[in-house]
Formats: sequence, C-alpha cells, structure tokens
Amino acid sequence: MTDRIRIDLGERGYDVLLGPGALRAARHHPALSGARRHAVLADANVLRLHRSRVADVLDGPGLAGPPIEIPEGERAKSFATLEQVLGQMLDLELERGDAVLAIGGGVTGDLAGLAAALYKRGMDVIQVPTTLLAMADSSVGGKTAINMPQGKNLIGTFHQPSLVIADFGFLDTLPERERQAGFAEIVKAALIGDRDFFERLEKSGRDGLTAAQLQAHLKTAITFKAGIVAADEREAGQRALLNLGHTFGHALESEAGGALLHGEAVAAGLALAFDYSARLGLCPEKDAARVRAYLELAGLRTRLPDLPGAPFSATAMLDRMRHDKKNSGGHIRLVLAHGIGNAFIHDQADAADLLNFLKDQIQ
Ligand code: GLY
Repeated sequence: MTDRIRIDLGERGYDVLLGPGALRAARHHPALSGARRHAVLADANVLRLHRSRVADVLDGPGLAGPPIEIPEGERAKSFATLEQVLGQMLDLELERGDAVLAIGGGVTGDLAGLAAALYKRGMDVIQVPTTLLAMADSSVGGKTAINMPQGKNLIGTFHQPSLVIADFGFLDTLPERERQAGFAEIVKAALIGDRDFFERLEKSGRDGLTAAQLQAHLKTAITFKAGIVAADEREAGQRALLNLGHTFGHALESEAGGALLHGEAVAAGLALAFDYSARLGLCPEKDAARVRAYLELAGLRTRLPDLPGAPFSATAMLDRMRHDKKNSGGHIRLVLAHGIGNAFIHDQADAADLLNFLKDQIQ
C-alpha cells in the first residue's frame, strides 16, 4: 500500500508517495502525466539494476530521449558534471513545460535538482529517491547543491520538486551498509522533535530496518520534516534543526575523504551533538547515553576511533566546522539538544571548548 504525504507549501506544494508500489501509483499522478516530456537523469548504477522498473512507469508519458547518466559517488556533485548534464539536457531540446525525473540517491537528487532549477531559469523536477537516506531526507524539501573544495553543498538553490516517488522496490538492491546509514536520518527526526517516536524506534530495535516497520518509520520521519519545511521553507529559522548531527557529521565526512557514508557520518554526529550538549550541562547524560546505545544497536558506529577514515584530527575537524554554511557573525552554530526530542539552535559555540571536546572524542 502506498502512503501519500503532502508537503504543504501553497502553490509549490507537492505529494510524497511512499511504499512498495509507489512508482505504479504515481503513473496517473497529475505531476507525472501532466508534463509534456520527461528527461531521466539517473544514477548509472541504479539504471543498470532497475531499468525495467523505471521503464514500466514511463511507458505512458513521453520520454525526451535516452537517460542522462549521473556518475556514482559524491564527486559527481561538481561544476564539471553539472555543466555536462545541462549540455545533455539542451541536446534533448527540453522545454520549460517538460520535467526532469531524478532517479537515484542524494547525489543524483541534489545534482539533478540543481540542473532543473537552472535550466532555462527553471523546470519541474520529480524526485525518485532510490536509497533510504534520500527517501528519509534529501529528496524532500527542495535543497539542491554541488560541493566545492571548501566544503559540501556550498553552491545551490532551493527548488521544490513537483512530486516525490519513494518506491521501496529500489531498496531491494541497496547494500546493507547504505540501508543502515540511511536509517540515521530517520533517527535524526525523532531526536529533533519527537521523543515518542524515538521510544517506538527503541522498541522496534534492529527490526526497525525491516520492510514491515520501515514504511511506518519513514512516514513519521517525512511527515515530521514536512511540518518543518512548510513552516520555514528557506531555513530562516527552525529548518536549521534538521541539521542536527550535520555540523559534526560534515566535518567527519570531509575528513574521511570518501571512506564514510553521509548517513554514517550523521549517526556519529548525532551522538557527538548529544554528548556535547551533556558536557555543557544542557542535556541529561542519560539521554546522550541512550542515543549512542540506540544508534549502536541499529548498527551505526558512533565512537570516532571505530569509524572508517579514523584517526581524525580534532584541529582539522574544528577547521571544517568553522567553514560550515550555517555559521554567522564568525561564530560556530551548532544544533544541540535539551534532551531526546528537544533540539535547539546554539549560536555561539566556543571554539576552544569544542576543540577540547573533539580531542577527548578522538581517543
Ligand atoms: N537535510 C536538511 C534539510 O532538508 O533542511
């Protein structure tokens, strides 16, 4: 059965279709059947594994041409790939009334979303996330970006999709490691603002990752995100809460140089954010310990020396955190927590204290 979640953004509002048959359910959705032609921008690996699944849904609506393949991996989020993809879109003679179908994980969604935002000053994009991480977080909310040598996601724009189709069929071929990593974004939603949800996750233990439970958990996480995005589309305020674990996480991910998946970095970042909150006396120690214990139970490593890419340098991590795009007025901005389900934005993190904390953590 397919769930439908509405992202309530007025005239830019859209549906998220979620479940095992979401692609089929989407066939007659006006956002899909309404576009004149579709250009498929797809992760090369997904295309290899799921060509028939994709062809199935695109039977009816006109395809603009052969799929444009997005190379695998974070390196595709570059100006060079963006330029190449835009050139291929021009070769297909796409018009503004056409739509891009972005089929893949977070990298494809971010790059294709940005290409759609720029192409002839903007065309529709339909996000078809194929990883758990992209389903739980990056396909919803309209953030698009590429990376720069100075950091991740520094160049981009907000461009809301006209539809998100999260079909569980894609998860069948997702490696277990990526599945676990994606689960971190679901846990993140609970930790930000829904303690009951966290307790349900704890109760489901490792079973939270099985298909039976996953749909309910994803639905809760996406509905939670939908509420935040609807209230603060452009991150003027509370949307920044969705970055819980991400300032630490991005620093780890960049330092690991490709050894660490985004979700793995976020999981460790969530544990760090809670530990740092406890160190400042802002959050009960027992909540921080509970967060770490649950993430470990879900198969996500949280201790820095255990992570792929270790050992990390505290100074290098702090340097990365200083360049985070959420900072303002030269201060490091962190999302911290008063407890499970009660995150808040802390604007003035003390760099020297943070460095000492990171030094303690890397040992
Ligand atoms: N991934 C965080 C956000 O969409 O705001």
